[in-house]
Amino acid sequence: MRKNIVAGNWKMNTTVPEGVKLAKDVNKALEGKEVNCDVIICVPFTHLVPVNDVIDADKLGLGAENCADHRSGAYTGEVSAPMVASTGAKYVILGHSERRQYYGETSETLKEKVALALENGLTPIFCIGEVLEQREDGSYLDVVKKQIEDALFNLSAEDFSKLILAYEPVWAIGTGKTATDDQAQEMHAFIRKTIEDKYGKEVAENTSILYGGSCKPSNAKALFAKPDVDGGLIGGASLDAESFMGIVTAF
Ligand code: 13P
Repeated sequence: MRKNIVAGNWKMNTTVPEGVKLAKDVNKALEGKEVNCDVIICVPFTHLVPVNDVIDADKLGLGAENCADHRSGAYTGEVSAPMVASTGAKYVILGHSERRQYYGETSETLKEKVALALENGLTPIFCIGEVLEQREDGSYLDVVKKQIEDALFNLSAEDFSKLILAYEPVWAIGTGKTATDDQAQEMHAFIRKTIEDKYGKEVAENTSILYGGSCKPSNAKALFAKPDVDGGLIGGASLDAESFMGIVTAF
């Protein structure tokens, strides 16, 4: 059966000491607590090694927020999937809308990143989602379907089964405007059906699909209660241990 997952995406926030403290606080809050989901934090590259040193990997998973579309070589400033894996991280967010929008990531580059992440034993948390205009003109289901087809449907069923997906409507990210639980459910069910049509029912049923976009303790319960919403990818609310835990315990 698919897992329930709450993953934090710290984005470009916190210095290394601040990040280490936040990771310690989350780790401490999880100590001796029974939670009904896997908990992951995805942190800036600079934070991976020191954060890995202070967390209990059995309680709290660690991920990066991106990786390069090449294995190694003359790509100044890039960080490769093998480098990420060598820090102890187990996850990597790929295809976040901020990377698509500000850094020109396309399905073609994302295909390379997904392949390299998998080759290095990292679990991609692959993001998809429409912008406001596409929500309003009614094309949002087609847009998300195409994002999945173009970047992921080259994978074998075995490799696809290793992914976590995150539906993040761009209009809900950092805006305080959450998709309603019904809007999230409609899209998540559609994503699962899209997976089923390609890879069959078993793969579709076993894929965790997270919701992201202004998810907070006050709305997490209603979102997570929907049958096809398997957790959240949390931005702003993951920067404070208490609010992050408020979402973790919504399961
Ligand atoms: P917010 O939770 O800040 O809206 O960000 C969501 C997000 O982009 C997580 O990847």
